[in-house]
Amino acid sequence: AQNTESPGFSMTHFFTDNWENVQNFKARPDDVLIATYPKAGTTWVSYILDLLYFGQTSPERQTSVPIYERVPFLELIVPKFVPGLDQVERLPTSPRLIKTHFPVQFVPKSFWEQNCKIIYVARNAKDNMVSYFHFDSMAMIEPDPGDWNNYFQRFMQGKVVTGSWYDHVNGWWKKKQTSPNVHYMFYEDLVEDTGREIDKLCSFLGLSPSEDERKRITGGVQFDKMKKNNMTNYSTHARMDFKTGSFMRKGRVGDWKNHFTVAQNEEFDEDYKKKMKDPTLQLRTDL
Ligand code: A3P
Repeated sequence: AQNTESPGFSMTHFFTDNWENVQNFKARPDDVLIATYPKAGTTWVSYILDLLYFGQTSPERQTSVPIYERVPFLELIVPKFVPGLDQVERLPTSPRLIKTHFPVQFVPKSFWEQNCKIIYVARNAKDNMVSYFHFDSMAMIEPDPGDWNNYFQRFMQGKVVTGSWYDHVNGWWKKKQTSPNVHYMFYEDLVEDTGREIDKLCSFLGLSPSEDERKRITGGVQFDKMKKNNMTNYSTHARMDFKTGSFMRKGRVGDWKNHFTVAQNEEFDEDYKKKMKDPTLQLRTDL
């Protein structure tokens, strides 16, 4: 959406204005990094992690601290907002849960040097695009998305704030093959079986919640619960325009069918084949 206070806000803000500081970030060995292309399920996985680590020990956090403050956005630098780096430094808890939308090659090197655990979440491109389109109309820190067809073209060309979705998911997938510290998750798997995915996450992180705790978390992170929860639905965020939509919008697999025309779908699939050559990386568009 149009940001009247800083028109022309774009990718350059995130990536260059704060570049050196972010690149020099000093990770701690127990930091947990959540990396995503925006709208792939960042908030969902952030909330799962927050409950796994702090659900028992800090119950007050659950009713008083919004998820975007519990899990700060590392490279965020937006007028009138505490920069992500400062938010991370101020975190009272350990481990620190940190979010980034960086493609893999931009992740500050200390995360690798410190052997931090990193969780990547990917979502199928079509739904990811649709979700981003709606988000860009409501988020005042994002440029206006323009009309759907225009957005559709720009997404395929990588001309949206976070750049190419294709490079993002492919780059992280490649990294995961050689890095045991990267856990690669899929939004669609979470929709299909949240409990199973939480179990996998726990074994990656070396956590063993009780059966009760596991049930409580699996139930608490379902879409309807998170949509009603003011600490997870972004309703307290100053830079969202809730007149134009909601952050917890649909939470489904396959909503792209309500947006893509038949011709767009063909064009998309054709282009997709050229950019997604690795047969081991499969993203499901239907469930
Ligand atoms: P939609 O716009 O398709 O509804 P992010 O947190 O990366 O910005 O991603 C936001 C997307 O994840 C939104 O997608 C949102 O509804 C969806 N989402 C968030 N929590 C969810 C949950 N518990 N179950 C399913 N989808 C969820």
